[in-house]
Amino acid sequence: MLKHVLIWDLPLRLFHWLFACTVIASWYTSDQDNNLIDIHMKLGYFALGLLVFRIFWGFFGTKHSQFRSFFPTPSRIINYIDYLKNNQVKDSSGHNPLGSLMVFLMIFLISLQAVSGLFINDDVFSSGPYYDSVSKEVEQVMMFLHHNVFDFMIAAIAMHLLAIAYYERVKKQSLILPMITGKKLTAQVDNKNVIKHSKLWIALLIVIVAVVFVYWLVVLNAPVIEEYYY
Ligand code: HEM
Ligand code: HEM
Repeated sequence: MLKHVLIWDLPLRLFHWLFACTVIASWYTSDQDNNLIDIHMKLGYFALGLLVFRIFWGFFGTKHSQFRSFFPTPSRIINYIDYLKNNQVKDSSGHNPLGSLMVFLMIFLISLQAVSGLFINDDVFSSGPYYDSVSKEVEQVMMFLHHNVFDFMIAAIAMHLLAIAYYERVKKQSLILPMITGKKLTAQVDNKNVIKHSKLWIALLIVIVAVVFVYWLVVLNAPVIEEYYY
């Protein structure tokens, strides 16, 4: 008999959809013609907060959210490719080893994008909080990263969406619905792979840590930039 079992906790699902919306909104607001660069920077701080949350959640979250449960070790990847080659169906609770490579890549690229933003300016009125507090060479590297990493990010996100479409269409395995409801429909309930609850109190504590950290980073610790009036 088919049964719904919980595999993705609520904080991870909220993280995912907020993260996706924030990245899309950051892209939209980055266009100078829209005159939304101040909103762009605030979205960037929000993205940083989400990233800090995800890193802590990777250690203290529920089973499938923990990095160690899906870290793509070479043996996990080779085993998974063998499964795919033999057209076998592997229990897919949590990220599969190939998908997890993409997860780490996306988190890495978006971190690079958000951190580099802190050190740059838009040549008009807006600057990241650490602009002018590092050498010109570092600023140039950050500017280069902020202008170029985004293309790799788009490529990684496109592959992410293609892989999900492949699972939905070809493998007839829905990944999207579980990322919304948290639940997967399965015939074999393996208690090892089912999570009992979402660890909401721990998530709340981590949210507080992430908010305090970002506030410290962009407000308390940021150097005061001298303003020149002409
Ligand atoms: C800018 C857009 C997006 C970004 C940056 C993004 C990023 C991510 C990340 C980082 C994860 C890993 C979750 C974690 O463990 O932290 C993930 C998983 C996932 N995402 Fe996205 N995502 C985006 C858009 C979407 C969209 C539009 C969909 C649905 C159509 C989607 C569906 C999924 C699903 C189903 C998973 C779980 C995959 C699995 O079962 O292994 N994502 N995404
Ligand atoms: C998820 C995080 C972020 C994403 C996806 C993102 C994306 C982008 C993109 C695509 C551009 C346009 C680059 C180009 O024209 O080639 C841009 C420009 C810019 N971003 Fe971000 N950004 C993020 C975070 C931040 C943060 C945290 C800050 C600063 C606090 C920031 C400050 C800026 C500034 C000042 C520009 C204008 C640069 C210029 O005109 O040369 N960004 N961003």
